[in-house]
Amino acid sequence: MTRFDELQAEALAALAAASGAAALDAWRAHWLGRQDGRVTTLLRSVKDQLAEHRASFGAACNNLQKALEEALEARQAALRTAELSQLTTSGALDVTLPGRPQLRGRLHPVTQTMRDCIKAFGDMGFRVVEGPEVEWSYYNFDAARIPEDHPARDMWDTIWVDTLIDGERNMLLRTHTTPNQVRVMERTQPPVRVIVPGKCYRQEATDATHEWMLTQIEGLAVDDGVRMSDLKGTLYEFARKIFGHERKIIFHHSYFPFVEPGVEMAMDCFICRGSGAECRTCHGTGWIEILGAGMVHPDIIDRMGYDSSRRTGFAFGMGVERVALLRWGIEDIRHFYQNDLRFLSQF
Ligand code: FA5
Repeated sequence: MTRFDELQAEALAALAAASGAAALDAWRAHWLGRQDGRVTTLLRSVKDQLAEHRASFGAACNNLQKALEEALEARQAALRTAELSQLTTSGALDVTLPGRPQLRGRLHPVTQTMRDCIKAFGDMGFRVVEGPEVEWSYYNFDAARIPEDHPARDMWDTIWVDTLIDGERNMLLRTHTTPNQVRVMERTQPPVRVIVPGKCYRQEATDATHEWMLTQIEGLAVDDGVRMSDLKGTLYEFARKIFGHERKIIFHHSYFPFVEPGVEMAMDCFICRGSGAECRTCHGTGWIEILGAGMVHPDIIDRMGYDSSRRTGFAFGMGVERVALLRWGIEDIRHFYQNDLRFLSQF
């Protein structure tokens, strides 16, 4: 037996006797420790050997080091397995307990409705574009024929951004998606057929159908000879795709400065089924308004350089939360943004 064989036998015997993490650490330090482990010291002494023995001495040291490292790894693995089986047989670890389920998220009901609406209009040839939520008052109001000091500005209680530009406060959180009508027409030539989805903000007193943050989808179609019947046909088709054939729709005349004529589209109230009496969701009317719409005002068509004698267009602005309320029969819009998982996880 060589000196190296003897050392290896001694080391392996000590390793077999060591049990537990502390004993294994001590064994490692004694034999393989970087400072003065016995194998490390032997390796350091290679350079002191006679030249003719140096190579075989070095090789024997390396073999010993490798053998001890492998033996240590095997011993650690064996001890881990033994510990685990000890835990399971002693009952301290119950491997039959089911794991904790991972919570799976889902899309918010307003996002789901938004995507279904986008798909419905997409199938009818509308392209999706987006616009800024922090908007210039020019696009939100002036370009939509609502000049400063005009009473129509009071139709929306505006949340202004408190920054003065040239001494004036002229940025705001958009009150509707309508500013995108002009934004789109400024950079496109007819035929135009787009929808613009996005969040809008109003300083509202909230109730069952009003939130201060709402989601709208603006629609705009401009081309040669677009008519009111095209608007109605598009909206009927939309309602059929989202609600099926059963629900009732009604158009009322309405005023919006950027369209002429203007209408509102409403659906029969799912709570009182149109009877109207004492219903807090439809305020006793029997109908829930989902959108404003109309024919794009000829002034705007001309200002965009489109020539209103040839080109006409329709536009609509739809409340996505209202569509979601109606499709699932939810009695209060405020549930959507209270972050109550008991409500949200139903959709
Ligand atoms: C507008 O915002 C117009 N820009 C719509 C329009 C576009 C008319 C293009 C003509 C042409 P209105 O303020 O009525 O109009 O809002 C449109 C829709 O947004 C409403 O029918 C309703 O569905 C929804 N909506 C309005 N205010 C709220 C609110 N506070 N909370 C939830 N939904 C709302």
